[in-house]
Amino acid sequence: MSKAEKIYSFDKSMELFHRAARTIPGGIYGHFSPTITVPGSFPYYTAEAKGCRYLDVDGNEMIDYMCAFGPMVLGYRNKTVDSAAATQQALADCTTHPGVVMIELAERLVELIPTADWAFFGKNGGDMTTYAILAARAHTNRKKIVMVRGHYHGVAPWCTALGFGGIIPEDHYQIIQVDWNDLDEFEKVVAEHRGDIAGFIAQPYHHINFGDQIMPAAGYWKGIEQICRREGIVLILDDVRAGFRLSMKGSGDYFGFEPDLSCYCKAIANGYALSACVGRRELMNAASKVFFTGSFWTSQVPMAAALATLSELERTDAPGRMKETGTLLGDGLKELGRQYGLEVTFSGPPAIPFMRFTEDRDFYWQQIFCSEVTKRGSFFHPHHNWFISTAHEQEDIEETLNHAEAAIKVVKREI
Ligand SMILES: Cc1ncc(COP(=O)(O)O)c(C=O)c1O
Repeated sequence: MSKAEKIYSFDKSMELFHRAARTIPGGIYGHFSPTITVPGSFPYYTAEAKGCRYLDVDGNEMIDYMCAFGPMVLGYRNKTVDSAAATQQALADCTTHPGVVMIELAERLVELIPTADWAFFGKNGGDMTTYAILAARAHTNRKKIVMVRGHYHGVAPWCTALGFGGIIPEDHYQIIQVDWNDLDEFEKVVAEHRGDIAGFIAQPYHHINFGDQIMPAAGYWKGIEQICRREGIVLILDDVRAGFRLSMKGSGDYFGFEPDLSCYCKAIANGYALSACVGRRELMNAASKVFFTGSFWTSQVPMAAALATLSELERTDAPGRMKETGTLLGDGLKELGRQYGLEVTFSGPPAIPFMRFTEDRDFYWQQIFCSEVTKRGSFFHPHHNWFISTAHEQEDIEETLNHAEAAIKVVKREI
């Protein structure tokens, strides 16, 4: 039987999920929650991972197109990164004082990212986006933050939607939302609140769930930059998801604009817990006045892992490779769509793509397709953008396209 014909089952995953739900709220929470996928059609627990593949608890081997929702960028258990981490682990990790590695990493980011004169470290992306808005307020002595409707910046109350547990309207009191790619709306908001806006924060492009990824319109970022400079508004780039997958110099450089503050996380340390905010010299004094810290924020192992990850990404031209691999996947899926008469929209940068069927109105076809691909051994998330790593090789893409062809036949039958 060919690999494409073998259908996985996920009984052990299901059993563990039910067990977890007795002692863990929601069983698996947040963006890792399996409740938005088709129950029984996706694995819920990982047993082992290497390169671009993992074994789930049912013993199924998966080619992973979520890469731990982004952090895995060089492949699971990358030897170079893990050995740098192990060397540091043998010396010191969570200690009373930081290590020299913290200074080395700050210097490395300053050397790498054109708009970075300093760096600050935390653990999660959301730590850094919240730190950045506090730094913007400290710098400007203003209160309001403008963000883009639908952009995700983590789980702090200021950026979590009403309707989620515990969020109250007052959490959004000084937050104003504008539409993506709408310079006129931003101008209008600036005119209404002149002198009161501390910062504008956005992702480098519109990466939303349940929808196509929308790139910046021509002139959008330059326009935002000009308005921010004219009005003394701090321009904050949330590069948590796209950072180091599009360009080693950050997505500001990639899209041709200069943020005042940029936030990094996911791909910075190939799975070791670390995030960073980098900024321009003018903001350094204000940034030093923000009180922001955590028990593990100076841990040395993730910083050593980050130094090794950045070197490996640079040495292997990782953004270029991921673009090529993602393009191969996208071209293959579009071709399958043509062959079977189901047009495919492949949106976003090829290294962080999203696919859906153009005529699929309610994601029903998508649910069938992604669960059928997954049951054959390639994990495609039905609603969230996917991630490519440098560990995905041409043979992996070819194997996935076989899974996709078998799945598309099922979609044709079911719709
Ligand atoms: C653009 C963006 N910003 C911020 C975050 C929050 O990062 P974290 O989940 O590490 O707090 C994410 C996470 O998905 C993200 O994609």
